[in-house]
Amino acid sequence: MGVSYIPVARIGELSPGAMKEVDLGGREVLLANVDGSYFAFSRQCPHEAADLKTGALEGTKVRCNNHNYCFDLQTGECVLLRSFSLSTVCRSFSGYV
Ligand code: FES
Repeated sequence: MGVSYIPVARIGELSPGAMKEVDLGGREVLLANVDGSYFAFSRQCPHEAADLKTGALEGTKVRCNNHNYCFDLQTGECVLLRSFSLSTVCRSFSGYV
């Protein structure tokens, strides 16, 4: 069984340091451009479900505004407590992310 990809943005559409909300068939995801590398991750904080759209992108980490938990977008792991992690996935192909 193959993996299917859903294009959600053109490469370059999102400025470095910016995040974009994406609806993947009812699954709310944020797409972030970190210096030309793209990361897609769950919009909902795994701690108490705050919206990470209001969080801060700090390099390859996103910080939740609710209790300041910080998640590494490369691994999904919470920097403070490893028991919390974000689901992350992203690929680029043919000019799309
Ligand atoms: S809800 Fe995000 S850190 Fe608590």
